[in-house]
Amino acid sequence: MDALTNNLNELLRLKSGIQRLTLTDYRNYSSLRIDAQNCPIIIYGENGSGKTNILESISFLAPGRGLRGVKLSDIKRFIPQIASLGEMSFVTPLNWAVAAEIINNGETHSLATAVEKSTRAIEDIDGNQSFERRIVKIDGNKTSLQSDLGKYISLIWLTPQMDRLFRGGSQPRRAFLDRMVYAFDNDHAKRVANFEHLYREWYRLIKEGKLDNHWLSSLEEEMSALGVAIAAARREQTARLNTFIEKEPDDVFPTVQLELDGLIERELDKSPAVKVENLYIDLLKSQRRNVLNNNNLEGVNRTDFKVYHKKKFMPAEMCSTGEQKSLLISIMLAQAKCQTLYKGFAPILLLDEVAAHLDDIKREALLSKVVNLNLQAWITTTDPELFDSIKSESQFFEVKQNSVYQISQPMAKPEDIRQTAF
Ligand SMILES: Nc1ncnc2c1ncn2[C@@H]1O[C@H](COP(=O)(O)OP(=O)(O)OP(=O)(O)O)[C@@H](O)[C@H]1O
Ligand SMILES: [Mg+2]
Repeated sequence: MDALTNNLNELLRLKSGIQRLTLTDYRNYSSLRIDAQNCPIIIYGENGSGKTNILESISFLAPGRGLRGVKLSDIKRFIPQIASLGEMSFVTPLNWAVAAEIINNGETHSLATAVEKSTRAIEDIDGNQSFERRIVKIDGNKTSLQSDLGKYISLIWLTPQMDRLFRGGSQPRRAFLDRMVYAFDNDHAKRVANFEHLYREWYRLIKEGKLDNHWLSSLEEEMSALGVAIAAARREQTARLNTFIEKEPDDVFPTVQLELDGLIERELDKSPAVKVENLYIDLLKSQRRNVLNNNNLEGVNRTDFKVYHKKKFMPAEMCSTGEQKSLLISIMLAQAKCQTLYKGFAPILLLDEVAAHLDDIKREALLSKVVNLNLQAWITTTDPELFDSIKSESQFFEVKQNSVYQISQPMAKPEDIRQTAF
């Protein structure tokens, strides 16, 4: 076993996971508490029972809008019986909350997130105005920076919507990559959010004909500095994963080759950052006209994250559904190992209906890798029998009638059953 494997195995002994999850007025749950162990957590139940909602609530312990990418107001619990079309009846106007006790390398912390009324209108990523904002509490202290959560917890999720990740527009692929960057660079989340905010303002000013050169130029300067930092962080992460995958290819899941397709990223191959910043300023200035004419715009908010099935020399979008899922799993496993190795703490996996599209060999391989890597993985399914092979190492919960019941626990502690190879 080489030094890297030894090192990783050593680090994986240090656990990271959620010990207790508490939800209040979160979608279909009025209140819910789950005491979780550091192992695969299989959440099963009928369609519509509330499995994905649990994973989504955990995803709000990371910066952003959760694994469904929704508006904060969608999460408020409403009572379906008295909701009629056009007029929804909410139990509470505001107070949904997610709280978690987590363990990170032996240290416990409490993380919580909720919405709060804001005195001024806040614009979300889609340009919608709202008077609600998400607040975060870390060990009881309120912080306005969602990105601070990244110091304590790291999440990787795979959802059924991501089965189409490689086929549609580039935004979800960029978001997928950006989430992987957060794990290494907490400030990346803040930079991306700031860039998007400035970009919307710049775009709106131009569209509204407010062509104050001084104001637009100052936005362009800020955007180009942030944009180059974003591009540099994405390049670094892509290179890091490619190097790791080349050194440690998976034995079951296909080897991937990752690439960035973006003008600013390409410029960084050729020129130093300061020069690219100036180029970006010029680019933005020249694109003011494109905004007015509704023409295409270039920049870090257009960059694409390209994935290739290396052995087949095939772009991911041309692979089969099951192959695309396997490529995603391959990236996820590489990121999990790479992150554990370089950051010193393992991510928590949120795997929504992950067994869909995988053949038996791939499903079993994924499960044994999750067990051997000693990761906490929250896995939803409508069919718990698919997880029989890891029954004695997993915790099973059944979801029904807006409640969650623990059905079984792992037989042995994960340390006892963990194997050395991955
Ligand atoms: N804001 C809300 N208030 C109350 N209930 C909600 C709210 N949003 C969603 N729901 C309900 O929560 C239920 C559970 O949804 P969820 O997506 O978690 O189901 P699931 O168990 O993952 O189902 P599937 O197996 O179909 O994926 C759905 O019936 C949905 O209508
Ligand atoms: Mg679901």
